[in-house]
Amino acid sequence: MGGFMGRARAEVVADGVGRLNPGDRMNIAIDPIGQSFAAAVSGIDCREPLEPDIVAAIDAAMDQYAVLVYRDQALTDDQQLAFTLHFGEIEKKGRGSGKGRIHFRTDNQARALATGIGDFSNIDGAGAPLTPETRAYQFKLADRLWHSDSSFRPVPAKYSLLSGRAVPSWGGNTEFADMRAAYDALDERTKREVEGLVCLHSQVYSREAVGFGEMDEAERAAFKPVRQSLVRRHPVTGRKSLFLSSHAGVVENWSIPESRMFLRDLMEFATQPQFVYSHAWQVHDLVVWDNRATMHRGRRFDPSEPRDVRQTRLAGDVATAEQLD
Ligand SMILES: [Fe+2]
Repeated sequence: MGGFMGRARAEVVADGVGRLNPGDRMNIAIDPIGQSFAAAVSGIDCREPLEPDIVAAIDAAMDQYAVLVYRDQALTDDQQLAFTLHFGEIEKKGRGSGKGRIHFRTDNQARALATGIGDFSNIDGAGAPLTPETRAYQFKLADRLWHSDSSFRPVPAKYSLLSGRAVPSWGGNTEFADMRAAYDALDERTKREVEGLVCLHSQVYSREAVGFGEMDEAERAAFKPVRQSLVRRHPVTGRKSLFLSSHAGVVENWSIPESRMFLRDLMEFATQPQFVYSHAWQVHDLVVWDNRATMHRGRRFDPSEPRDVRQTRLAGDVATAEQLD
């Protein structure tokens, strides 16, 4: 990941901070984490409003890296929302997202959080961890399969921002896979094969993959599959990437077994260690990723420990394929 690294600090100063009033200057730095496509951002207080030049510098770093880590950001929900809104609009619920009253937490398993804040914790309404025999816990387990957020919506998500308010003592990493690098590394024959293919994505497929099969008619209707191109182009950088996700269940016009084996092979290829960054959480980390260039998955942790992570998610800009209805 050469190129941007050494210049990151200078670019930000020249293009961003340099034009601010001296008193407003933030000494921001964006430093790659090891050899990965993730970078650590320092010198920014995510609770404070950002100058447009800083926002532009962060967006440019997102386009270059695709995962940014901000440490020591003790955010309230309102502060997380305000920070998020610098970079786009909050994704609205809609088709494929559990339209209507479809949700998997019962009333006493749901916490009342601000509108726009997604509760990705394992904590119920009384503050206790969801137990493994509950449907809510089992539905969440599929988040541990590689996926791209909202790939089951006609316009999939832009950035997701995950704030670690309480993290378990062991495990619970979030792993990211760089789908641009994975695409680039495909052999030429496979590149020709994937070009033009469309996959059907639905949360039904990802839940079936872990054996969570009991969905009623209303749930299945809400999770109606959407079409997504298997090769997508980033709207800003123009870079191609593989658009894989465990929500993808079928390659259009292919048999299910042929589809599943092909997608499984691609998934295995794209998640080799050289394409993966594993984030070990510290409390008050804010981790931001671009779903248009990456996949991610959660990792195991002790279900008896609370893991309070809250997500804001930005609406995507373009569909990757036309919907047929
Ligand atoms: Fe996710």
